[in-house]
Amino acid sequence: MNGAHAVASPRVVCIEDFRPIARRRIPRAVFDYLDGGAEGEVTLRENCRAFQDVTFRPRHAVALGKCDLGVRVLGFDLALPFLLAPVGYSRLMHPGGEVAAARAAGAAGTAYILSTISGHKLENVKAGSSGPVFYQLYLMGGRGAAEAAIDRARAAGFSALVVTIDTAVSGIRERDYRNGMKELISGSVFEKIPYIPELLKHPGWLMGYLRDGGLPGLPNVIIPGKGPMPLVDINAALAAAAVTWADLRWIREHWKGPIVVKGVLTGDDGRRAVDEGAAAISVSNHGGRQLDCVPASVRALPEVVKAVKDQVEVLMDGGVRRGTDVVKAICMGARAVLCGRAYAYALAAAGEAGVTRAIEILRTDVERTLRLLGCASIAALDRSYVNVPAAWE
Ligand SMILES: Cc1cc2nc3c(=O)[nH]c(=O)nc-3n(C[C@H](O)[C@H](O)[C@H](O)COP(=O)(O)O)c2cc1C
Repeated sequence: MNGAHAVASPRVVCIEDFRPIARRRIPRAVFDYLDGGAEGEVTLRENCRAFQDVTFRPRHAVALGKCDLGVRVLGFDLALPFLLAPVGYSRLMHPGGEVAAARAAGAAGTAYILSTISGHKLENVKAGSSGPVFYQLYLMGGRGAAEAAIDRARAAGFSALVVTIDTAVSGIRERDYRNGMKELISGSVFEKIPYIPELLKHPGWLMGYLRDGGLPGLPNVIIPGKGPMPLVDINAALAAAAVTWADLRWIREHWKGPIVVKGVLTGDDGRRAVDEGAAAISVSNHGGRQLDCVPASVRALPEVVKAVKDQVEVLMDGGVRRGTDVVKAICMGARAVLCGRAYAYALAAAGEAGVTRAIEILRTDVERTLRLLGCASIAALDRSYVNVPAAWE
């Protein structure tokens, strides 16, 4: 069964069901890049697990009409309370990559956030989506490259910049080193040889990859005087791309639209982001891919909400796999959540059709959860619908 047929199967009933399909379709190196986290993967696991510590307080026997899932994020009315998070190398998971994900998001009435580490031109991603698209900025290639990307994003009609602040260096994802991701991306033909048998086990993926021309450089990171950054430069470029608060001030001078600061885990950083002019923040640990052993995002949410809720829109991401997770985060003060792996597994499994299905599963999940809670809208959710461990507040 190919990926598209597999995800259309009635047996795909929740997000977790996409994971084994993705694992079968794509080579181990790519799957582990998508699935894995930093070091001991403590935070990766905890992101999902910690949602179980929050329980619901439903209001039963309530008559509800239509449920309203809409939210307003940065002035955009979204049909759903979740956005698609930036996921680097999406084009490696499926040739449609970032364009496919953006198109599925737009069709569902929500926003897509494009990673700097995109294999598709930002103009094509924007043109593919009927919804709002935000650009996630790393300072790879220095300020010259960032300025060019900001100018292009503005001209193409991107609505917001998302500045990720938790990537002082790239976290060490040990699976990438063990399974050949590094060699696949940047190694010589000679270095790739040991991994060829594994690639041949995934002929559907391999054909798509070869037809797509292999991995291009980064079309949105144009080094002044040189051209697109080749993939071989990425790790070194990330290490030199740490964003500081001074950089954020520089970015604000160049981008007059709203800025989302992504990667906040403490009230202090939340307040700092507000002082530096952020319009929104995302409480995030990068899906457990950067500093391991930081708290789960949902665990960090109450502290950040308490510090900044009335001054800035609070988003969160990390571990969201079910509609109940989305609803819990919103009850705890998030305006909306970002989903990363929840759609990336589906993209790897079946391209745009997979992402469309994943969004639909999450949408019906959220609506069912609202009905079972006895709440008619996302806007009406609040702290009274959940029990949160006392130690979190
Ligand atoms: C494969 C992969 C690549 C990612 N690439 C980026 C990126 O380029 N920029 C960024 O800000 N976050 C990146 N993230 C982090 C996501 O935006 C998001 O914070 C994270 O996936 C949320 O956790 P979740 O996957 O449990 O939903 C990436 C995540 C994954 C899984």
